Amino acid sequence: MSTELGRVEDLPPDYYNGLRSRNMMPLWPSLRAALPFDMPSRRTKPALWRYRQEVRPDLMRAGELTPIEKAERRVLVLCNPGLGLDELKATPTIYIGLQLILPGESAPNHKHTPSAVRFVVEGKGGYTVVRGEKLPMHRGDLILTPPGMWHEHGHDGNEPVVWLDALDLPLVYGVEASYCVDGHKSQVITDPLNSSAVRFAQGGVVPYATLNRPRGDYPMLRFAWNNVRSTLVELARVTPLGQAVHLAYVNPETGRECMPTLGFSAIMLRPGEEVRLPRRSSSAVFHVVEGGGSAAIDGEVLTFEEADTLAAPTHATIVLSNASKTAPAFLFMVDDAPMQRKLGFHEVFDR
Ligand SMILES: [Fe+2]
Repeated sequence: MSTELGRVEDLPPDYYNGLRSRNMMPLWPSLRAALPFDMPSRRTKPALWRYRQEVRPDLMRAGELTPIEKAERRVLVLCNPGLGLDELKATPTIYIGLQLILPGESAPNHKHTPSAVRFVVEGKGGYTVVRGEKLPMHRGDLILTPPGMWHEHGHDGNEPVVWLDALDLPLVYGVEASYCVDGHKSQVITDPLNSSAVRFAQGGVVPYATLNRPRGDYPMLRFAWNNVRSTLVELARVTPLGQAVHLAYVNPETGRECMPTLGFSAIMLRPGEEVRLPRRSSSAVFHVVEGGGSAAIDGEVLTFEEADTLAAPTHATIVLSNASKTAPAFLFMVDDAPMQRKLGFHEVFDR
């Protein structure tokens, strides 16, 4: 295959400009950029957003500057500098926003085509209603709001609540399919006890009736952090050192990813541990739930603390290290592997 492809400058200007005037372009000058050999070209940079020093003060200031009526969603979007800030992308497919809800504030009932999840960063008293089920939001909980499913947020507490929104918005917007529908009135809460989290609280066992009906797409909408954390601690006891202690959030009825395009998982780094993740074709975002350390992403070392967020491009080498010799560190991870698997090109590399 030729590596010396013709350039635009090689063409007579009248021919090239004529093509353009008729809404055509020659492929060969841009073929190699669109389809490079062996490795995709990536604009996404390894990136770090510091919560305590940077994101939180700016978010609290947004609470003073902009009343909720003027913002609808009071969100600061984490934008990857390699992709351009106006693109609102942490990676090519993943949108990450940090949302502030002050006591008494709410987000009215609505639904949209992008998939969304919330991961609670701080504050007590927030809740989300999805499909009539009231889902409490404690620190570290993962709440699913699947595409096309009605949801609304509220806050019964008396302190600021901050959560991380992760959406496949860049993907859905990119295919010109992103839109939202206003529900006009609140949902009737038919399930105040968050029964889906109770039904699937224990791995390996499910309510018997599950076996006699078609598999649901979203049988479980909230994954409590205290369950995930304690399962990681148990998993660490049977996982060799240096091998990632890594749990995937799944649909408990199918065992597959719990959302269609984005994957969610949690990693525990044992005291002093360094873990090299298998290199994957998916892009990823990490949010630090507990502890501190460093992430070497394509060789760039980023030092993280609790509540910081990091982004990694597709095909990146990622080495995570726990800085503490005595305490574990926990990270929540978002990736676009489910989308890549469905499109048939997701890869995990040996090195
Ligand atoms: Fe929403």
